[in-house]
Amino acid sequence: MSAPNKAYDPVRVTALAPAEVQRMLDAGLAAISGAGSFDELKEARLAHLGGRSPLVLASAEIGALPPEAKAEAGRRVGEAKRLLGEAHAGRQRELEADRDQRVLVDEVADVTLPWDRRASGARHPVAMLADRLADVFIGMGYEIAEGPEIEAEWYNFDALNFPPDHPAREMQDTFFVAGRDGAAHSGKVLRTHTSPVQIRAMLSRPLPVYVVSPGKCFRADALDATHSPVFHQIEGLAVDEGLTMADLRGAISAFVEAMFGPGLRTRLRPDFFPFTEPSADVSMECHVCRGASARGGSPCRVCKSQGWIEIAGCGMVNPRVLAACGIDADRYSGFAFGLGIERSLMIRNGLADIRDTIDGDVRFSRAFGAEA
Ligand code: PHE
Repeated sequence: MSAPNKAYDPVRVTALAPAEVQRMLDAGLAAISGAGSFDELKEARLAHLGGRSPLVLASAEIGALPPEAKAEAGRRVGEAKRLLGEAHAGRQRELEADRDQRVLVDEVADVTLPWDRRASGARHPVAMLADRLADVFIGMGYEIAEGPEIEAEWYNFDALNFPPDHPAREMQDTFFVAGRDGAAHSGKVLRTHTSPVQIRAMLSRPLPVYVVSPGKCFRADALDATHSPVFHQIEGLAVDEGLTMADLRGAISAFVEAMFGPGLRTRLRPDFFPFTEPSADVSMECHVCRGASARGGSPCRVCKSQGWIEIAGCGMVNPRVLAACGIDADRYSGFAFGLGIERSLMIRNGLADIRDTIDGDVRFSRAFGAEA
């Protein structure tokens, strides 16, 4: 602050001249009204009303004016400050109102938008069919048994009575798991069927045994419309006193009816599996033409007018297999069956291409709905 102006020299305080104060006021008002944001408004306030603004610096000079000029200059500067303060407060309110308005628009929630259209997944039809089949057997007192997908060759072949060099091993093109340090064999394979779970069940459970085992299987097949290197089977095994093929037939009717509804006939024809004796393949009456096409009715695409569709393998558990599991084959007998889930699904739902089951397109699964 300057010392009192003994010379009363108004020239030294031109900053307090009416025109100058008016100019500072106009500049401040222009800056305030032109501020387009809170930051700009703050800048304008500091520049025109802050401690170092020309107007405030000028007002510090009032004390240097002649006494009769002080009051007037004080009023003039005070009035300018008041006007700037008001303008600032007004602009502040405008900016706040703008911001509130923008928030209302930007953050608006359209409560009429559909809230239930989020894409949801679907259970896979292969899993649903496996569950459905397993449930039928659980309802008859069977238990679920599981085994590893990377399986010891012994379980997958040897214990199931596939001799070491028997061509039966080549019935199934096997993925062998390489050994450590590059050894060709580890003694493990990707299981080629769910039958090794039979062995695991017989070795680990008290008799009698009634189990079903759904699960993944692997074969070195090229992927095409009807083959996949990864697929699913479900296996059934019963070991008890006095079981006969009549019991096996009953179990077979149960799963065919679970898939296709009641009343379809089944047929067994001799087949060969090393682990069952006798062995049979299971066919069911065509669920579309009910066999009519084979009796001279109109041709049927589904069974190729055979009247029957092959659906599973089965047989009485080979006594050698029972013996390998330490079960007295004179006292106990057993039956087993196995079927491919994808193949059954394709037959049941008229699918032409197994690849649809592995593409992972949820639209495929959704088409099956939420049936259990
Ligand atoms: N494991 C056999 C296969 O994969 C099917 C089968 C299971 C046959 C049980 C007889 C008994 O072809």
